[in-house]
Amino acid sequence: MCGIVGYVGKKEASPVLINGLSKLEYRGYDSAGVAIIENNKLKISKCKGRLANLEAKLQQEPIHGAVGIGHTRWATHGEPSDLNSHPHSNEDETISVVHNGIIENYLHLREWLTSKGYKFMSETDTEVIPHLVDYYYQGNLEDAVMKAISKMDGSYALGVVSTHEPGKLVAVRKDSPLIVGVGKDEFFIASDIPAILNYTRDVYLLNDKEFVVITQDGIKLLTEEGDIINKDIFHVTWNADAAEKGGYEHFMIKEIHEQPKAIRDTMTSRIALEKPITLDKISLTKEQLENIDKVYIVACGTAYHAGVVGKYAIEQLARIPVEVDIASEFRYRNPIINEKTLMIVVSQSGETADTLAALREAKKHGARVIAVTNVVGSSASREAHDVLYTWAGPEIAVASTKAYTTQLIAMYIMALYFAEQKGTLSSERIEEIKKEMLQLPEKAEETLKHKDVLQRFASKTYMHKDMFFLGRGVDYAVAMEGSLKLKEISYIHSEAYAAGELKHGTIALIENGTVVIALATQDNLFEKMVSNIKEVKTRGANVLAFAFEGNNDIEKTVDSALYIPKTETVLAPVLSVIPLQLLAYYMAVQKGCDVDKPRNLAKSVTVE
Ligand code: M6R
Repeated sequence: MCGIVGYVGKKEASPVLINGLSKLEYRGYDSAGVAIIENNKLKISKCKGRLANLEAKLQQEPIHGAVGIGHTRWATHGEPSDLNSHPHSNEDETISVVHNGIIENYLHLREWLTSKGYKFMSETDTEVIPHLVDYYYQGNLEDAVMKAISKMDGSYALGVVSTHEPGKLVAVRKDSPLIVGVGKDEFFIASDIPAILNYTRDVYLLNDKEFVVITQDGIKLLTEEGDIINKDIFHVTWNADAAEKGGYEHFMIKEIHEQPKAIRDTMTSRIALEKPITLDKISLTKEQLENIDKVYIVACGTAYHAGVVGKYAIEQLARIPVEVDIASEFRYRNPIINEKTLMIVVSQSGETADTLAALREAKKHGARVIAVTNVVGSSASREAHDVLYTWAGPEIAVASTKAYTTQLIAMYIMALYFAEQKGTLSSERIEEIKKEMLQLPEKAEETLKHKDVLQRFASKTYMHKDMFFLGRGVDYAVAMEGSLKLKEISYIHSEAYAAGELKHGTIALIENGTVVIALATQDNLFEKMVSNIKEVKTRGANVLAFAFEGNNDIEKTVDSALYIPKTETVLAPVLSVIPLQLLAYYMAVQKGCDVDKPRNLAKSVTVE
C-alpha cells in the first residue's frame, strides 16, 4: 500500500510528482504529500484526504525545485491526518523520507532513538527512518540510509532526500515494489510504472535491498554492501493510454469492457486448435506431473476466487488433487509442503505481501512454484521458479475485474496442459474445450450487452442493506467473487453461499424482499439449483438468476433472469462473472459511491 515517487532532473519537481502520484492513488488515497528541495531548504507540503487537496495546497503555496519526493498514503500506523501524512522528516528538517511498507520493529527503534534525544511528531512507523538516517549521517546520504536499513525489520520502499546533499535522491526497497525511470537528463523513482510513463519508458526493476543513488549526473545502482550493480534496462512496451480512462466514467467500467481483449491476449500463443498447449517457457513433463501429489493454489481476495475455480478445473480435467488457500492463512498453518508439491500463486500485482510470503514458504520447503501474475517484473514473477503472465494490461480500479477473468484463463490453460501431459483427457475432448475457450472473447462481448436488465435491477434494489449470492460447483466460486465485488464498491453487505448449504442455517435470514442473486449455469446441477431457488422464493426472496441461453424455464421460478451464451460448464465463470461485475458497478453508481477508490481499500496490499 501507499505509493511513492521521486524526481531528479531539470524540470519543476512539483507537477511531475503530482502527476506520478495521480497514477498511484490506487495504492492508497487517505493523504498525500511532497518534499522538494528549494534553494537548499526542504519544503514540505502534505495533507489529509485525496491528492486534489494537496494539489490545491500547492497552488496556493507553490514549491520550486528540481529534486523531490512524493507520497500517497494508505494508513497502517496512525489515522489518516495531516501529521501522519508523508513525507516525514528529522527535527531540523534536513532529511525527508517517503515510505511504502511497514517497519515491524519501529517501537523498539522509536524507544532507542528517543533515548538518544530524538523527538517524534507522528504515530507512524515511518518516522523512525529520517531519525535513523540523521543518526548515521556522516557526510554521505547513501551510507546513512544503508546503515539505517540494517536496523530495520519489515518491508519498505524508500525515497530519501536531504539538504546536506541537495541534488541527491537515495532509494531502496525490500518486499515493497520500486522501479527507477531513466529519462533524458532526468530520473524518477516510483512504486509502479504508470507513474513515470508520461516521461520515460526505460526503467530499472530493483530487487530487494538494491539501492539507487540519483543525482543530476546520472544514477548508480548499489548492493547493500555498496558494490555497483550492472542491470539491464527494461523497456516498457505498453502504452500510457492503457492506464487512462479512455472516455469511460470510471476505470472499473473501462476494465470490465476490456475483458474480451484481455481474455484473447491471455490465450494467444498458448491455445490453438490442433496444436499442443504451451505454457510459455514452463515445462512440466508427464513424469514430473505424476510425481506431484498435491497442488496448492494460494492467493488473496479476487485472485483467491480465481484459484477456487482453478481447483475445480485442475481436479476435473487433470485429476490432480488441489487445495486452495487464502495466503494470509497458508503460511501460519504449517502446511505440508515438499518436493512433490506444486504451488501456484495467483496475484494481479505480484506484490501482495501475504502471497509473496506463501511463495517463499513453499520454496523453502522444496516446492516448485508457478506465479500467475499480471505485472511483468513484479516480485512474484521474479521469485517464483516459473511465471505465467495474464495479459490483462494495467488494472487501475481497486475492484479487480479483467485480472480475474484472465486469471481464470490461466487456470484453464494450466489444467488443460496438465491433462494433455498426463493423458487424463482424450485429444478430442481437449480440442472441444480449446474450441470453446477460443470463442470466449466473442461470448464475453455478447454478455456485455445485457446492461439494461442489470441497470434496472440495480435501480430497484440498491437501497437494500444485505444481499445473497448462491451457486453450486464453479457457480459457487463465482458467487463469492460477485459478493466481494458488491461489498467492496457499493458497501452493501452480502454473502456468498453454496446453494445446498443455505438451509443449514443462513436461510433463517431470508425474508420478504431479500435480494438473492442465483447462478445456475451448471448443467448437472441445474435442477438442484432450481430447487434451492424455490426454497428462498417460498420465503419471499426477490431472485435474479443467471443461466445459459436456452434454459428459459428458469423464468417460471425467479423474478428476473439474465442469460449468458452457452459454453462448457467448467468455463462458465469467465462469462457469468461479467454481469456480476456490472451489477456491482451499477449498484455503486446508483449509491453515488467512489467506484474506483472505495473506502478503506487500496489496490496493492503490500502489508500483512
Ligand atoms: O494483486 P493481487 O491479485 O495479489 O491482489 C489480491 C487482492 O488484494 C485483490 O484481488 C482484492 O481482493 C481486490 N480488491 C478485489 O477486487
